[in-house]
Amino acid sequence: MSLFSADWLDRREPHDRRARNPAVLAAVTKAFANDASVSAVDLACGTGATVRALGEALPRHQHWRLIDNDLGLLARAKAAAPQGARANIMAIDLARDLEAALDGPVDLVTTSAFLDLVSEDWLERLVTEIAARRLPFYAALSYDGRVVMTPVDDADATIVSAFNRHQTSDKGFGPALGPASAAHAVTMFERLGYQVVQGKADWRIEASDPLQMEIVSSMAAAARELVGVPQATIEGWATRRRILAAAGRSTLQIGHIDFFARPTERR
Ligand SMILES: C[S@@+](CC[C@H](N)C(=O)[O-])C[C@H]1O[C@@H](n2cnc3c(N)ncnc32)[C@H](O)[C@@H]1O
Repeated sequence: MSLFSADWLDRREPHDRRARNPAVLAAVTKAFANDASVSAVDLACGTGATVRALGEALPRHQHWRLIDNDLGLLARAKAAAPQGARANIMAIDLARDLEAALDGPVDLVTTSAFLDLVSEDWLERLVTEIAARRLPFYAALSYDGRVVMTPVDDADATIVSAFNRHQTSDKGFGPALGPASAAHAVTMFERLGYQVVQGKADWRIEASDPLQMEIVSSMAAAARELVGVPQATIEGWATRRRILAAAGRSTLQIGHIDFFARPTERR
């Protein structure tokens, strides 16, 4: 499974959509309630899930600048933008040219399922650039390291801990913050005088959902890449979890955080 393939993003989008925190979305809506139009930049847009998720939450006249470094995903994002939303795509490597993504007329910066990929240094750069422009920032679906599996298996904690360590490997931005990313970002924005609304946005994956098998496989694959987790522990765990999933006897909860950070005064 490629983490960022269009197929994977399509499969996760309905889960993301259900998980997005309603109080955080309501805070975004309230911030733009008196505006007739909005110009937004979506960082690391993938196939455009954030544009589709925010369509109803923002003023009717929306202009989106969609940023990613994957041309295939950008083309799909443009094609799948909701009716009424004007969407321009820009191919930018955010690790290198973040500032170019934010320049020009912008009222709102958004992202989803992205902050956990970036390093502390890059996050600080992002927060600094956004705050210098006094812009609000909506960041959804940052993985926060909480995983609850039922029924419980003795090796769950070992595998989740390995997966969380693996999440901190370099994804092109330096050592990734992984599960710590949203909390770090919130602290940075609050230090700069932003008001932050945050909340959980957890995936709840039911017994019949084929995503269970994918998640078990990707957690096992992450554990295999690390030194220190015995092979037998990983394979035994993956086999037992797959048997439970195939029997429709297991559920998964994967923790994410959404937040909306708003400067106390807009530009
Ligand atoms: C997990 S996906 C999330 C996509 C989308 N925001 C969503 O919620 O479905 C992460 C995205 O980050 C993009 N990405 C990763 N590294 C990047 C970089 N250096 N510059 C721009 N985009 C990047 C990937 O191409 C991918 O679309």
